[in-house]
Amino acid sequence: MTDVVKLECHDAIAIVTVDSPPVNALSAAVRRGISESVKQAIADPEVQAIVLTCAGRTFIAGADITEFGKPPQSPGLGDVITELENSPKPIVAAIHGTALGGGLEVALGCHFRVAVKDAKLGLPEVKLGLLPGAGGTQRLPRAVGPELAVKMIVGGDPIGAAVALEHGLIDEIVEATAAGGEAFARKVLAESRPLRKLRDDDSKLQAAKADRSIFTQAVAAMTKKARGLEAPFAAADAVAAAIDLPFDEGMKKERDGFMKLVTGEQSKAQRYAFFAEREAAKVSGVPEGTKPRPVTRVAIIGAGTMGGGIAMSFANAGIPVTLIETGEEQLKRGLGVMQKNYDSTAARGGIPADAPAKRMALINGVVGLEHVKDADLIIEAVFETMAVKKEVFTAIDAYAKPGAVLASNTSYLNIDEIAQVTKRPEDVLGMHFFSPANVMKLCEIVRADKTAPDALLTAVAIARKIAKVPAVVGVCDGFVGNRMLAARGKQAEQLLFEGALPQQVDAVVTKFGMPMGPFAMGDLAGLDIGWRSRQDRGIKSEIADALCEAGRFGQKTGKGYYKYEAGSRAPLPDPEVETLINDTLNKLGLKRREVPDEEILERMMYPMINEGARILEEKIAARPSDIDVIWLYGYGWPIYRGGPMFYADSVGLKHIAERLSYYAKATNDPTLEPAPLLARLAAEDGSFATLTQRAKAA
Ligand code: 3HC
Ligand code: NAI
Repeated sequence: MTDVVKLECHDAIAIVTVDSPPVNALSAAVRRGISESVKQAIADPEVQAIVLTCAGRTFIAGADITEFGKPPQSPGLGDVITELENSPKPIVAAIHGTALGGGLEVALGCHFRVAVKDAKLGLPEVKLGLLPGAGGTQRLPRAVGPELAVKMIVGGDPIGAAVALEHGLIDEIVEATAAGGEAFARKVLAESRPLRKLRDDDSKLQAAKADRSIFTQAVAAMTKKARGLEAPFAAADAVAAAIDLPFDEGMKKERDGFMKLVTGEQSKAQRYAFFAEREAAKVSGVPEGTKPRPVTRVAIIGAGTMGGGIAMSFANAGIPVTLIETGEEQLKRGLGVMQKNYDSTAARGGIPADAPAKRMALINGVVGLEHVKDADLIIEAVFETMAVKKEVFTAIDAYAKPGAVLASNTSYLNIDEIAQVTKRPEDVLGMHFFSPANVMKLCEIVRADKTAPDALLTAVAIARKIAKVPAVVGVCDGFVGNRMLAARGKQAEQLLFEGALPQQVDAVVTKFGMPMGPFAMGDLAGLDIGWRSRQDRGIKSEIADALCEAGRFGQKTGKGYYKYEAGSRAPLPDPEVETLINDTLNKLGLKRREVPDEEILERMMYPMINEGARILEEKIAARPSDIDVIWLYGYGWPIYRGGPMFYADSVGLKHIAERLSYYAKATNDPTLEPAPLLARLAAEDGSFATLTQRAKAA
């Protein structure tokens, strides 16, 4: 029929196949193709029923996100779906892969739905800062009831075919889409089944109309973690309209909500993040045709905080792991922590009851580095000391099979130096996971001087396979994330010397949307680590030193920049800390001043952005969007603000450069002067987005 939608006829059944790689998104051409094919099938007297299905790896994955923010092209998706629903001939959607967003909305406009057993169905619009805009908020509650609809629409996670069948979202599970859809269509015809138009079926809304708490409780559960986000609340309002209003009025409410979100700042940032994440997986500077090496078995060295979490990430993805420790005692402790972690997740219903046993069975704990010999990928997560790392890599080099990728999880150390102790530096790189490693999605993949392109791609591919978000970075102290964090940390400390209190600084940062402020984060990590490292380097930081001298190491001692009640992780402001700060400032002859919140925000954000600009100049990161991905997935940067470099563009680089210059002078810190790249972009009215575009084009 068109390039992207085909129409064929099998003995009274018309098969409409969308074929628009990679994910059959609903571009204008696809919408037009579906509309024209269905019209033609309806007009054809030979055709009695229609099957709508897709070629390639998936059913329609949603609206074409790249079209948002551009002038609308007809036909509109809502109109196409109305055409389907109004068809006098039965239409069956036959689903494989993922029916997401507009894709599921198309299926909801059909009279029947069948799916293969590993298909997934969902309305993830909320993750893009949107709500379903083509009837999803009105038809899904009518298909499955408001409770599950809220879960799917406000939470955004898809459900599997079995659950979809149980709740009436699909009519049957089939072996294969086209054949299964066709067989189901013949059954509909043979049984003269009435066409089910969801718009006209209010039966599943009745319980919630009678007892509103079904709906309000589901909304409360799903919006608990939605702090700062607009879309989940707007989506819940739209579902409420399905309960309260006639279909057409509900549709209008949905439309208004969608338009407001799609033109707003939050969705713009979230759509940017979607593409930034995918862009980050594309490694620059790798010869075309380079393939990752196969990885079927992984060895992890060290079963501590990080090694354990990393091992769990692999086991969660079904990949067997050899976990290596120095002794039985350490091994037992490490495995015990993992078991406990799995058990408590299962108890909360986060994973099935049999998952802990299945996953622990994939982790083989052993003592002795010779056990790395079968692994295709070896990840070292031992103590953060160069001497220990070198010792371990020398041993790995002796035992590992040829072609194995050798990775270090170091946070700061030089991977080039580590690689030098091996006879195969081309196989060595960094895989820097973030704590807790079984939860945090980021993995900085550190490309060392000699890392081979295929080794690099192997690390990127395996990170994606275990559901992490990889971002390739170069070697420097702290790589991208922690290097920028250090720039922020320096300012945070400086602010205490000028008169701010830890709770004031942290409040500004959390109000911005970060999960934690720098001082609460310091208390969580332990203040003694930095203290010891300062002592080793002969550096002073009088307030932090005084805290440690008073035995305030953070959460582990029940007090640090805050105090903690027994068994609680909630930071409580402590008057003793204020006294300690005052005493320290008095000793140094410094006077406290009132530091305004606006200044705190600027000094928390702009120096970090400046460091990001230096990182780009040094080519430690390939594009600004990679830096954003690192902050979104490694540090909990609020997704609705897109990441630090995206945020910088939204503030304006000229303003940021001016403020940095001002603070450089006001605090007598020349390192705060705008980095040359930032200064240049500011002068030419440029943005980081243009740099990302240029990197993409190259
Ligand atoms: N629009 C445009 N491009 C899309 C897209 C979409 N909806 N979904 C995926 N793509 C692109 C990706 O950017 C990527 O492009 P690239 O190769 O150039 O980087 C390519 O398709 C493949 O995507 P993935 O790398 O993500 O492939 P996976 O196989 O890992 O995942 C997927 C496939 C699960 C479909 C995943 O891409 C996904 O979650 N997509 C978004 C789904 C979504 O959010 N749909 C709702 C859209 S909003 C909507 O429908 C509004 C409506 O209610 C009106
Ligand atoms: P940890 O102290 O909790 O665990 C280290 C483990 O390695 C210990 O169980 C120890 O017994 C084991 N080990 C030491 N030498 C070994 C050897 N030769 N063979 C086998 N096992 C050995 O440390 P943690 O926090 O897990 O850190 C590990 C690495 O991860 C460090 O390089 C650290 O910088 C890095 N990292 C830590 C993060 C964190 O938040 N803790 C975050 C990201 C990276």
